[in-house]
Amino acid sequence: MATILAIETSCDETAVAIVKNRQVLSSIVASQIDLHQKYGGVVPELASRKHLESINFCLSEAIAESGLSWQDLDGIASTCAPGLVGALLVGVTAAKTLAMVHNKPFLGVHHLEGHIYASYLSQPELKPPFLCLLVSGGHTSMIYVKDCGHYEMLGTTRDDAAGEAFDKVARLLNLGYPGGPIIDKLAKSGNPQAFPLPEGRISLPEGGYHPYDTSFSGLKTAVLRLTQKLAEKGEIPVADLAASFQNTVARVLTKRTIRCALDYGLKTITVGGGVAANSELREHLLAAAQKHDIQVYFPPLKLCTDNAAMIACAAVEHYTRGDISSIDLKVRSRMPI
Ligand code: KG4
Ligand code: ZN
Repeated sequence: MATILAIETSCDETAVAIVKNRQVLSSIVASQIDLHQKYGGVVPELASRKHLESINFCLSEAIAESGLSWQDLDGIASTCAPGLVGALLVGVTAAKTLAMVHNKPFLGVHHLEGHIYASYLSQPELKPPFLCLLVSGGHTSMIYVKDCGHYEMLGTTRDDAAGEAFDKVARLLNLGYPGGPIIDKLAKSGNPQAFPLPEGRISLPEGGYHPYDTSFSGLKTAVLRLTQKLAEKGEIPVADLAASFQNTVARVLTKRTIRCALDYGLKTITVGGGVAANSELREHLLAAAQKHDIQVYFPPLKLCTDNAAMIACAAVEHYTRGDISSIDLKVRSRMPI
């Protein structure tokens, strides 16, 4: 039980939130999407500079919205890995400084742990063990959550992450950035069966396929080739392409996740990361899980994409276990969970 203020600056959102146990008291997210949009992706140097500009405002807004004072907090947390180093440094330095000034413990949180614990904020009764499908711009992971701090990575992507595939396909169809929400919307007016696309199975040296790993780069290339071929013939049926692509991703992720939960005897699946907002993935996964009597929990949309409430929630779990970080903790661009 604890009240934690957390900062998240690992990529292109400057976010600060205060969480009491599993209750969000305030959550501020300053998105940099507009800044990076014209480059078609996140520019690391611009991201760090923008975090610096926004962090103080986000901190005071989060405190004001919560109605608390610094004295009411039990600890100050920040995402410390993985992510863009310059961007992470802004959040971690601010959190460490505030922890020292207000004499509070500092907690460094793994970004993926944040996505795992996002589901706790809407499901106060949820507890391990469960399977977490984490699908974001940087990750496509199936994580067996045994307990807080005890995770087993059962499946991952061999190349592009699911969100990255959405962003790249949107870019090659000239739809804009970030691609996920744009494709999600456009796919509603397209035919998901218009074009059969490869599911990207991973062959194993001993024969057969890896049951849980994914590969989306072949799918992206298939959309590119198809687009080029269709362009030679005339107009490109963008909505049908978007719908066929999205349907393939939703089917692949659903198949692998359900198989994984069944193999490990897990009756609960949680989904986190930006792609958890995808309407078709939600539909497919809920329908398949129901058939096997498995519960699936999706966080509310605003907690699927990067935010600091999920980081604070993970920090509450660590704080409760006395798991405090050293003030010398370094940021890291990559770190296994
Ligand atoms: O979790 P997130 O905010 O940041 C990372 O940690 O990466 O995820 C961002 C990703 C982007 O690639 C974005 O295109 C994707 O999530 N995304 C979606 C949807 N909303 C966001 N992908 C598919 N459907 C959506 N509705
Ligand atoms: Zn994320």
